[in-house]
This record gives sequence, C-alpha cells and structure tokens, in this order.
Amino acid sequence: MADIVRFSVSLEDDLLERFDRYCKEQQYATRSEAVRQLIRKELTEQAWESQSEDAAGTLTLVYDHHRPQLAERLTALQHDHTDLIISTLHAHLAHDLCLEVIVLRGPADRLQKIASQLRGMKGIYKGELVMASAAGRA
Ligand code: NI
Repeated sequence: MADIVRFSVSLEDDLLERFDRYCKEQQYATRSEAVRQLIRKELTEQAWESQSEDAAGTLTLVYDHHRPQLAERLTALQHDHTDLIISTLHAHLAHDLCLEVIVLRGPADRLQKIASQLRGMKGIYKGELVMASAAGRA
C-alpha cells in the first residue's frame, strides 16, 4: 500500500463549483476520490502510447443477433486471439439483440486493435472499450 500524500491545488472558484457538482453527480465520496480517479484515467490513457504496456480491459458490444454471420464472425475472431481474450459474458437482451462483455489482457496496442476489429463489424450497435493498466500501478 502506497503512502498517502496530501497536496493543495489552487483553482478558480467557478471551476471548483463545477467540479463539486461533478463529484456529486458522479457520487464520489470525496473530492480526493474524484481527483485520484481522474488522474489515474489520464495517466492510463497516456500510457497506451507505450505499446508494450501490459493492459487489461473490457469490450462491451451490443449487436444484432440476426445480422447474417455476425455472431459467427465475432466468435471466430475471439478464437483466433485466445492469448488476448480471457473471458466472454453473453446476455440475450431481446429477440434479436445481444450484449457481450469481453475481458481482454495483453499489450495495449494489440487490445486496441482487436477491439477495433470486433466493434467495427457490421451489425454492432455499440462498442465500448474500457482499459486499465495491468502493470501493478493502477
Ligand atoms: Ni444472444
């Protein structure tokens, strides 16, 4: 467990007001918790520029189950990358709608590439990748 260090920040009162509103809306317990998560998010995103960064993430897909071959192509691409894909959760949302959450781990650039390939397929309504550092300094 890292030591906690306190530091103070100076900012304009209207910016602080907006930040406090944001903290409340996002239900952060404290300003510190919000600042910690925002800093981590920014640093994590910056780290993706280093392509060998060990990363983990989830790719959430919502897609049309009835689009010809889509389900098969999604599964085939995942089977071709078993070194990157740890697990998949599938939920049948409606008659023709599926939700899939794919858990990934590996070099950041490869995760981004396979996520782009998966969510770029025809018939995908929504595809969102959330990445985190897996390098032990989250
Ligand atoms: Ni389904």
